[in-house]
Amino acid sequence: MGSIIVEKSALQGELEISGAKNSALPILAAVLLTDEEVILHKIPVLSDVETMIDILRTAGKNVVFEKETGTVRVSGGILHTHVPYELVRKMRASFNVLGPIAVIMGESSTPLPGGCAIGVRPVDFHIEGLKKLGFDVNYDHGEILAKRGNKPEEVAVYLPFPSVGATEHIMSVAAVLPGVTVIENAAMEPEIVDLQDLLNEMGANISGAGTSKIMITGVKKLHGCEYTVIPDRIEAGTYVLAILTTGGEGLIKNVRTDHLDALWAVLEKTGAIVKKGENSVEVKSWNNWRGCDIDVMPYPGFPTDLQPQAIVYLSLAQGTSMITENVFKTRFAHVGELVRMGANIKIKENTVIINGVERLQGTTVMGTDLRATAALVIAGFAAEGETEVTQAEYIFRGYENVIEKFAKLGGKIRYVPGGVPEI
Ligand code: UD1
Repeated sequence: MGSIIVEKSALQGELEISGAKNSALPILAAVLLTDEEVILHKIPVLSDVETMIDILRTAGKNVVFEKETGTVRVSGGILHTHVPYELVRKMRASFNVLGPIAVIMGESSTPLPGGCAIGVRPVDFHIEGLKKLGFDVNYDHGEILAKRGNKPEEVAVYLPFPSVGATEHIMSVAAVLPGVTVIENAAMEPEIVDLQDLLNEMGANISGAGTSKIMITGVKKLHGCEYTVIPDRIEAGTYVLAILTTGGEGLIKNVRTDHLDALWAVLEKTGAIVKKGENSVEVKSWNNWRGCDIDVMPYPGFPTDLQPQAIVYLSLAQGTSMITENVFKTRFAHVGELVRMGANIKIKENTVIINGVERLQGTTVMGTDLRATAALVIAGFAAEGETEVTQAEYIFRGYENVIEKFAKLGGKIRYVPGGVPEI
């Protein structure tokens, strides 16, 4: 696997944010629900998106990805109902095709996705949800087999935790099942609203996304449409935190600032200057930024996907910060690597206690997952000397043109290639 080599740099300038990975993936899975052509815009060129496109092609769909414009055209029917292990093991979000294939074809099978570097990630809510929708779901020799059955006229699916993936999976399948389905304690992330909007463009009847109660009245058939995905709030937040951690300033464009209120609240507490525009944000660091406490929570709380990058920022703040991770309670693989760079961080159960230090030092560190790798790259820009982030390909799963974008901000960064990692 390859490395990203980073030298100390104050990041500044302008940058345009790409379409949201976490919208693109469930939206591509939902497109399985129609034979007609769906044209999607602003699909980011990422290894996770390529994996989802491979899954659609394996299922029999025609997919054309025009990478220069970010346009994806999907058409044709499903021919195969089994999703092979080589694709499922690459990306957890691939599990979200099980229900859409089964609802159209009568059955579908896929290997159970394993854990990954950010912790144990079960799929029990997905399975319980599909069962409530009348599916017969069985587990045999590492494979999940889902068979379509009779859905009761009215069903309420209560999620024990507002799981993003389970909300999206159940919502997509229920869109084409008869009767009414209500998802209670649904995830409220903007990407759920984006999926609802896409499905409604395809002829579904769904309301309530963005709240904890989503109501789906099934329709017989979905049709083709043309749709543009929302900007990636996690990509935007990552570049904002990178700029601030290196003491720079910048203008980030194509941002839905209302999707990042929890981040702005934290940054304002630390003393950073944040000026929100219509579709952009301008940020400027303040030399002696202060530490602050963060509770990582499902949306609209502070996103777990920005927790590693926030830890780097707060490692260089004045005073003590506490971050409590309530979504993936063991998501701290990056902490040990940051300590090796000179950060003063202790882990106590699902909380990290950060005592701000004056500087970090460059060394060789290892990326362990997508956001952890982004955090280590940010730490490298702030650290004295040179930092080598190994297993760096994780970053390409979620950041489009990441080397070019950091370089555009004046970051001294280069990539020494290797293979693409899999979870
Ligand atoms: C999605 C995002 C990921 C983000 C996460 C939380 C995509 C493609 N990925 O992942 O970037 O970090 O939301 O915002 O959108 N859980 C169960 N059983 C289940 C499902 C989830 O116990 O069946 C638990 C998980 O272990 C975790 C919590 O619920 O502790 C939230 O996970 P979930 O929201 O499902 O995350 P993903 O959809 O996998």
